[in-house]
Amino acid sequence: MSWLNRLRPKSNRSEAPDFSAPALRIGEYLVTDVHSHMVPGVDDGAENLEQSLAMIAQLIEMGYRQSVITPHIHSDIYPNSIHTLRDPFQKLQEAVHARWPEFKIHLAAEYFLDDHFEHCIAAGDLLWFPGTDENGREVKCVLFEFGFHEPPMNHDHVLFELQMAGYTGVLAHAERYPYWHQSPQEIQGLADRGIWITVNAASLAGAYGPEMYRVAKRLVENNTARMICSDAHGLRHMESLEAIGKSPLVQHWLHNGNPASASLPRLQ
Ligand SMILES: [Fe+2]
Repeated sequence: MSWLNRLRPKSNRSEAPDFSAPALRIGEYLVTDVHSHMVPGVDDGAENLEQSLAMIAQLIEMGYRQSVITPHIHSDIYPNSIHTLRDPFQKLQEAVHARWPEFKIHLAAEYFLDDHFEHCIAAGDLLWFPGTDENGREVKCVLFEFGFHEPPMNHDHVLFELQMAGYTGVLAHAERYPYWHQSPQEIQGLADRGIWITVNAASLAGAYGPEMYRVAKRLVENNTARMICSDAHGLRHMESLEAIGKSPLVQHWLHNGNPASASLPRLQ
């Protein structure tokens, strides 16, 4: 718990997470981790194959059966595409298959909502992962994020284009956009328009402070959150997954909230 202890603020204990429930293996309930940075050397996640495999070993230890891996695609900072990602992902996939043949990984991406994302939608050039909607129909999911410092511009239009192209948008870490912390109707509005809302395990573990925790908690409490994700960039994020396995809030959601990651199709 060293990473969590270091980052967790000492004040405002009323918004501190509660880890008083008996531990459960969270991967047995979530089944698929749908947001992580484990393709070696392509973004700010795993630097090499050993780090990637160490993270996957932890997921397996916690009971997960599969993982959607989502490197950043951000035209200014991480100009990735299927062409830059295919080979390193394939090497990882071969190494995973050799060690854990039953554990499946799938390449998708975390798109920054910018002009490049809009071009990818128009070109039909998107890395997606399969999901199952409320009616049991298989849908194509695309993970995206906004910037942390300024509210997005034009996002309604871009997300409409994404949906018209036949995809279900999945918002990464909905609790991490400070400009919307006092306006929960913004995230709820996205959910009402069919965007799947996700929160990060680290926020629920308190690693990003009381404000992120408060917002993540509310999204889980009111069932707006469809998924809880590792957003793993390193082993420290696995500590958060393990920690929230003891959270009464998260356990209630696991049993009553119908986590969307548990009904993903089996990945190839
Ligand atoms: Fe991420």
